[in-house]
Amino acid sequence: MAADTSPSLPAWGETRVVGQALPRVDAYERVSGSAVYAIDVAFSDMLHAATLRCPYANAKVRHIDTAAAERMPGVKAIITDRTPGANIPWYPGRNGPTSRLFDPHCRYAGDEVAAVAASTLDQALDAVCAIKVEYDQLPFVVDLNDALKDGAPAVQEGGNYADPPRVMQRGDVAKGFAEADAFVEETFETGCQIHSAGETHGSVARWEGDHLTVWDTTQGVFDSQRSLAAALRLPISSVRVTSHYMGGGFGGKLELGKHTVIAALLARQTGRPVKLFLSREETFYAVGNRPADRIKLKIGAKRDGTLTAIDITNRGIVGAYPGSAGVAYQAMDLYLCPNARAEEASVYINAGKQCAMRAPGFPQCSWALEQVMDALAEKIGMDPIEFRLKNIPEVSQIRGNMPFTSTGLKQCLSQGSEAFDWKRSREKPRVEGPIRRGIGVAAGMWGYEGHPVAAAVVRLFADGSANLNIGATDLGTGTKTIMAMVVAEELGIPLDKIEVEWADTATTQYSPASGGSQTVLVNAPAVRSAAAEVRRQILMIASEQFKLPAGDLVIRDGKVFPAAEPEKAVALSELRGLNERRVIMAVGNRDPHPAGKIALPFIAQFAEVEVNTLTGEVKVVRFLAAHDSGRVMNRLTYENQVFGGVAMGIGFGMTEQRRIDRKSGKVLNANLLDYKVPTAMDVPVDIRCLPIDPHDTECNSVGSKGLGEPATIPTAAAIANAVYNATGVRVTRAPITPDEMLRLIAARGRRA
Ligand code: MOS
Repeated sequence: MAADTSPSLPAWGETRVVGQALPRVDAYERVSGSAVYAIDVAFSDMLHAATLRCPYANAKVRHIDTAAAERMPGVKAIITDRTPGANIPWYPGRNGPTSRLFDPHCRYAGDEVAAVAASTLDQALDAVCAIKVEYDQLPFVVDLNDALKDGAPAVQEGGNYADPPRVMQRGDVAKGFAEADAFVEETFETGCQIHSAGETHGSVARWEGDHLTVWDTTQGVFDSQRSLAAALRLPISSVRVTSHYMGGGFGGKLELGKHTVIAALLARQTGRPVKLFLSREETFYAVGNRPADRIKLKIGAKRDGTLTAIDITNRGIVGAYPGSAGVAYQAMDLYLCPNARAEEASVYINAGKQCAMRAPGFPQCSWALEQVMDALAEKIGMDPIEFRLKNIPEVSQIRGNMPFTSTGLKQCLSQGSEAFDWKRSREKPRVEGPIRRGIGVAAGMWGYEGHPVAAAVVRLFADGSANLNIGATDLGTGTKTIMAMVVAEELGIPLDKIEVEWADTATTQYSPASGGSQTVLVNAPAVRSAAAEVRRQILMIASEQFKLPAGDLVIRDGKVFPAAEPEKAVALSELRGLNERRVIMAVGNRDPHPAGKIALPFIAQFAEVEVNTLTGEVKVVRFLAAHDSGRVMNRLTYENQVFGGVAMGIGFGMTEQRRIDRKSGKVLNANLLDYKVPTAMDVPVDIRCLPIDPHDTECNSVGSKGLGEPATIPTAAAIANAVYNATGVRVTRAPITPDEMLRLIAARGRRA
């Protein structure tokens, strides 16, 4: 089949609106409190729901007695596994579902047992406490090593390996190591990270006859609609999902949550709208996490810096239900290396399930890969940046050497190191009393290509104002703003004349979920295409009025004029043809990805740290993030993404880790006090974002390659390499807590 590889619109050259640092189009609504988030949705007859969760890490429900709870004030409905219609399969595995909505076999402390709807939230919570459950407790396992021991309690029938080990390989790794002049081998561990979005998860469900409407906290309304329809055995067309303002997702709001189905069931049973929002505590165990991984990595290189072999083995924790804790892709694709092998397996423990979290697997891989790259550079006596520059790929080796549309990795490293003043910083004095100072670098890539199916509608009204209609959610990242800027750019009308309608399955166009760093690059080309078609039609109308060929006319700032005679400008609202037609409307679609090429973003990040060798404290004092994500769509939201991603990476590398008690099987730090998300005090004041724009004309018609996830990928590794540079201590276990740091410094002292 001869595929059309060129986008139907030529790439933009210089842009006038796109690329500027513009505040969000909905900034006022967000800061003033007038924006309606799902939790703000209310109806006069609305009920509030709460969930009863199993307190044990592994237990079977023997008996539930809801009689007392049902008699409590305000209680309208209680549902359990025995409620008709509630027997819904959940957590799909290779051999079918591994659980149910309220499965009597609870496999982690937090598994759902029952739910209550009542007039107020307090009444619902009181009733949850009054439900009497008899459990048969079972042995459990909450630690990776324990789970892999002989005779360990089996989390699922068939043992604690969620899948047979998965192997990827190319070339001959043994031969590659034989050819190497030096190699490094090390085992790394990463902590389990929680998304900690500002907004917790929840839904408001309301039925009208057989039609269900849900106000949801979801990254993808069409995904939520499809999954919800399947769970409730309804036609997709009977379910409407909207997700307007959101307080972040980070991957934790991609999958349909049990809470959404529970709200729908309780609403159906009571005939009233039901609101069910999770508490902050519940979000720490019930809605996913970045899995903890144990990664063994060995790499070899020649003295001149040529990589000859990479061998990575990973065991990742998926929690109590099937999932993927894979990390290997980046190790197999970031650097040129003819011989590479990966072996991975996911392991069950009795804990909440993993799910996608900002660049799933990639920060974990970076933590290991970029530290062994650093160590091997030292071993062969090369600068770590030179070593990386020696092994830059132009093709994706895990995709049969498919060429990248652009590879900005080299520029990220070279321009980034210059902007960071790498060479001189390495030579600066490093000791001041107990403080050791050092710098480090880590590179990375993001590897998800996604499914670019999306449509957009642009309507231009007779007064020169326009509606943009897209199905994408805006997680708080600025999606609406960027899409409106694309219309302003293409159509030549001011940004404040554009209203965005978004993320409602009943009224907006299809878009995949906002995830995989795909939102801009999937939706913006569809938006551009719709706006370009409206522009074409306006120019036809204007051509009649001006009696000039359409090609001689320009639209700018809401006015049309002959390119040669700007003084003859006419406002769009004064175009006779537009007034006759009232509205000009066009649908835009996303072209397929370019055939035979792959478009992916690249990163290099640079950190400077101060380590206090008396207290073990590590302070990131300077940071630079160089990103090739293609075209900068909005300089302000670009920096927001990068700074937010780096902050999340600092959390992953230094402070954040879910802790589970081996005795009780419970999460010990299920709150924002004991689980340490970095605050403004923990991120450097001196943080800079350096966009590298390779002017990629092939990736898609707007030239953007995705940014949200790349921003967090190499951060922790760059910090760990800086810590090594400062102290000579290699921190293999994330996060780098002060006590871990002190332990390693002491151990090094004993060896010396
Ligand atoms: Mo992302 S983890 O695909 O929201």
